[in-house]
Amino acid sequence: KDVKAPAQKPRRFGARGTATGVRPAVAPFSVRMPVPQVLEPAHRTSTADVYKMVIKPAEAEIIPGVRTPVLTYGGQFVGPTIRARTGRAVKIVYGNRLDTPANVHLHGGHVPPVSDGHPMDVIQPGEARLYDYPNTQQGATLWYHDHSHQMEAEHVFRGLHGFYLIDDEAEKSLRLPTGAYDVPIMLRDIEFDANGELIFFDDPANRTTILANGKIQPYFPVAARKYRFRLLNASNEHVFQLNLGGREMMKIASDGGLLPAPVPSTELVLASAERAEIVVDFARYPVGSQLVLSNGSTPILRFDVTRTASDDSRLPDVLRPLPALPAATVVRDVAMSFDLSGAIPVGMVNNRPFDPARADFQVKRGATEIWRVTNADTIGVDHTFHMHLEQFRVLDRNGAPPLPQDAGLKDTVHLPANGSVRIQVTFTDYVGRYVYHCHYLEHSSIGMMAQMEITP
Ligand code: C2O
Ligand code: CU
Repeated sequence: KDVKAPAQKPRRFGARGTATGVRPAVAPFSVRMPVPQVLEPAHRTSTADVYKMVIKPAEAEIIPGVRTPVLTYGGQFVGPTIRARTGRAVKIVYGNRLDTPANVHLHGGHVPPVSDGHPMDVIQPGEARLYDYPNTQQGATLWYHDHSHQMEAEHVFRGLHGFYLIDDEAEKSLRLPTGAYDVPIMLRDIEFDANGELIFFDDPANRTTILANGKIQPYFPVAARKYRFRLLNASNEHVFQLNLGGREMMKIASDGGLLPAPVPSTELVLASAERAEIVVDFARYPVGSQLVLSNGSTPILRFDVTRTASDDSRLPDVLRPLPALPAATVVRDVAMSFDLSGAIPVGMVNNRPFDPARADFQVKRGATEIWRVTNADTIGVDHTFHMHLEQFRVLDRNGAPPLPQDAGLKDTVHLPANGSVRIQVTFTDYVGRYVYHCHYLEHSSIGMMAQMEITP
């Protein structure tokens, strides 16, 4: 397949344009939302949990009664969840049983370059490799996904995505809901043909079916007590505007972990690859209540309050202060755009498409920098900005205070048409090459990516 053959118009990058999507006829709220299985380590050493996973094709029942060919980590369409804790390493051996190169990037992870899943650092078919994650960062909702050169959009679209959750001791002492009351929810869009097979080569705007943990408009039975939900937008290109029908969601965490304090919210904006954690207290609603999580006015998941339950969890007024911002000594400009002058669009950062042989920025380890990141297109297309390795802070947006979705520690930020943000980041310890890119994966796959070389 030629994944580099996009069509001509904006919004059709990556598209062949021959496909016709069919909206699956699934009765709303007829399927229960699964919670991705937590993977058990193959063994444990004194300092690390060691896992094994296989990257392989499989069939998933996304539409009831239909077997859809997908690509998976571990045979599951939302890959198994890895549960890690701060200060204890995780090592994962991935075997690639696809017929194409693949790899694994731990999105939001603070990891050495050799384990980062750089686009050129792939696992060949039939081979295996070890990723070593030190988990030196604080608790956060991370996720893992494919990042193989020019293939990430198709691979992630077809299912190479899963959760990686880090817990830490300080967070534990807050006594937020845990166990069965701490639920990761992967939201993403998708498109099917009449046979229930995935359509990748089409305008991403036609991906109008939305999945919650791999199911279409599922329900999820809950007890009348507090829950922690870890929401991830795993769509290649989609901004979700999530609401619970006007009911309150207490936002407690962003991409990189806890916010200083819970933020009462009735709407959450999540661009591709962003995370938001919320606490919802279903004790406010009588047994028998149904609360629908919608994207705008489109229902995507229904919570059914089916029973009472005891609840010794808490939602403290104070969560975790953000680290102090050291003074920045370097300011850089980063412009995300397309070159539309040729037969096919080319993605660019600072007017150049990704070249794995070129380091675009030289960064000094220990430096604190401000990056002015701009959506430099004039064709009304959205972008996002994602940096590997470090969490950053959004200082301002379009010269004004940041939006609620920009709060806290971030690794991905939305750049709507004409949008710009200033972010501040400290490069704490690792040296080597890391990429930064648009997380609209159809854009990064055709060049909207660059890399920095961090030196001692
Ligand atoms: Cu989630 Cu470079 O990616
Ligand atoms: Cu983009």
